[in-house]
Amino acid sequence: MKAVTWHGRRDVRVDTVPDPVLKEPSDVIVRITSSGICGSDLHLYEVLGPFMTEGDILGHEPMGVVEEVGSEVTALVPGDRVVIPFNISCNSCFMCARGLQSQCETTQVREQGTGAALFGYTKLYGQVPGGQAEYLRVPFGDTLPIKVPDGPPDDRFVYLSDVLPTAWQAVEYAGVAPGSSIVVLGLGPIGDMSCRIAQHRGAETVIGVDIVPDRLDRARARGVEALDLRTHGNRLADVIRDMTAGRGPDAVIDAVGMEAHGAPVARLAQQFTGFLPDVISEKLMQKAGIDRLKALYTAIDVVRRGGTISIVGVYGGAADPLPMLQMFDKQVQLRMGQANVWHWIPSLLPLVVDSDPLGVEGFATHHLPLAEAPRAYDMFQKKENGAVKVLLRP
Ligand SMILES: NC(=O)c1ccc[n+]([C@@H]2O[C@H](COP(=O)([O-])OP(=O)(O)OC[C@H]3O[C@@H](n4cnc5c(N)ncnc54)[C@H](O)[C@@H]3O)[C@@H](O)[C@H]2O)c1
Ligand SMILES: [Zn+2]
Ligand SMILES: [Zn+2]
Repeated sequence: MKAVTWHGRRDVRVDTVPDPVLKEPSDVIVRITSSGICGSDLHLYEVLGPFMTEGDILGHEPMGVVEEVGSEVTALVPGDRVVIPFNISCNSCFMCARGLQSQCETTQVREQGTGAALFGYTKLYGQVPGGQAEYLRVPFGDTLPIKVPDGPPDDRFVYLSDVLPTAWQAVEYAGVAPGSSIVVLGLGPIGDMSCRIAQHRGAETVIGVDIVPDRLDRARARGVEALDLRTHGNRLADVIRDMTAGRGPDAVIDAVGMEAHGAPVARLAQQFTGFLPDVISEKLMQKAGIDRLKALYTAIDVVRRGGTISIVGVYGGAADPLPMLQMFDKQVQLRMGQANVWHWIPSLLPLVVDSDPLGVEGFATHHLPLAEAPRAYDMFQKKENGAVKVLLRP
């Protein structure tokens, strides 16, 4: 089959690789019909190279049609339409029972000391072949795939794999309630969807921040007060306080993560590790890795006293300096983590099946054949041609 594979920094290719096969009687094989490219894939493309192996199959936002089922699978038959969550969770262990699928104890990657295995996501998360491919082997066939109805286009459902539960969790962790004020840093797919969900959940003030004009316009078109970081620069926090009764917002969602714009020193350090031999740079990243913390520092500065910061952007550093005095004094509440995809599916399904209040059908800016994945990655990373969300169609 054809699959998108990692070959080095900013080097992904479409290779011919062996078709996946059933390994466990509980596995299913899915023929992929749509597969998203995520901001998390951009970290693999740029700074997380030390944890990648040449030939790794990328992708963790797939959906498609069941092709084959293992002998123990009873919940699915070939021909069923399914979306595959990005975290690989058993849905029966201690963690899954508590709605913490991203910490699943059956798939935790213990040799790396990390949480649940993820599709298409580095040695840190189990090096499991991903879903930017024609076919995908999916474990826990009875409990992991999300069955969706036939009929509506893939775009209705594909974001159940990641974007929707991730943004939903970000808003939930931010404690958004009717009347809340919220700032969303970063208006990529996750930040954009977080704004939509915050509005849907009754937030009164939703302010979004980014540096990309198309992304700001896209948010503005849905009623978000969008601020360009490049215009406001160091005054951003004051501008936001002026918009929120002088106090700052009830909550801030950081939907930027470790590659924030505007942190030159950390940027150099990240690039430097990218050029070292793998064994050295992997160790260096694990012990002394630093993120570009610009967005998180902004969040700490602008959130009101006693307010909440919900970190949804991925961070990977081990030695990140944080302003503990300011955080403690302001009584900041902090929540973060990978999305527990299955936990939020019952809340989300009604929002994509009948009407489309979150606008998922028009959410993708590009639909491209799998063969064009290299161009798609390049365009999404450079934020060119208005690319916000790209769906590959194998
Ligand atoms: N927690 C999870 O389960 C989960 C799931 C999916 C994605 N993510 C993470 O969420 C983050 C966003 O993902 P995405 O798909 O929207 O990616 P993205 O890269 O398209 O979005 C990031 C946005 O942040 C903007 N930005 C950069 N620096 C900024 C700054 N200093 N202030 C404000 N905005 C800034 C960029 O211009 C971009 O639009 C990534 O870190 C991704 O890894 C986490
Ligand atoms: Zn993702
Ligand atoms: Zn589990």
